[in-house]
Amino acid sequence: MTVGCLTGVMGAPPTLHTARLVLRPFAISDLEAMTALMSHPKVQTALHLPAHTGGPEAFQALVVGAGLWEIAGFGQWALEERSTGRFVGRAGLYARAEPDWPGVEVGWALDPSWWGRGYATEAGEAAVRFGFDDVGVDSLVSVILPENEASSAVARRLGFVLADERTLSHFPAMPHGVWRLDRAKWEAGDR
Ligand SMILES: CC(C)(COP(=O)(O)OP(=O)(O)OC[C@H]1O[C@@H](n2cnc3c(N)ncnc32)[C@H](O)[C@@H]1OP(=O)(O)O)[C@@H](O)C(=O)NCCC(=O)NCCS
Repeated sequence: MTVGCLTGVMGAPPTLHTARLVLRPFAISDLEAMTALMSHPKVQTALHLPAHTGGPEAFQALVVGAGLWEIAGFGQWALEERSTGRFVGRAGLYARAEPDWPGVEVGWALDPSWWGRGYATEAGEAAVRFGFDDVGVDSLVSVILPENEASSAVARRLGFVLADERTLSHFPAMPHGVWRLDRAKWEAGDR
């Protein structure tokens, strides 16, 4: 993966609707909810975030996320429950510039109070569709620590298969599972 692989059309994120969610651009007003998400011990454990992670890191995530949309034409959305307007978490596309980063990634993180409702899979499906239809990639990845069974299950439900397990340079502490979904499989509805 090189930055040259970021082929999306530059610009602001569109707002997408699924049956139960709105996927919308992040705003600075999401800082408090993002801080709560990134400060939650369960999220910190899953993502191996240091225990001090909080407001400054959430602000950084918002800024980097907005920048990815601007320069690459894809990124993460804020997830809102349609029926209540409440902030649920984040999901969408992501990429890094390390040479061993495997491709355009679909990722998700929900505040734990929203786990167990199918919202990550629902948002992930919209992100996958956006990756294939709007960004135009032929393959998507999801980079997941093998110990993260909940996230692996989301990937599996979306049709991703575990293609590889290897140590990536952005996180040398342990190997990641590299889950992959090819366009042809997605278009065939083969999940
Ligand atoms: C990874 C993560 C998003 C998964 O969340 P999740 O709630 O398990 O996943 P989904 O939203 O797809 O929900 C699936 C669950 O909802 C249940 N569910 C309940 N109602 C449902 C409905 N109407 N439709 C679909 N599923 C429903 C499913 O049966 C499933 O439950 P199960 O895990 O007991 O089988 C969450 O654990 C998380 O945010 N973790 C911290 C951040 C993280 O690890 N991110 C990934 C890094 S690689």
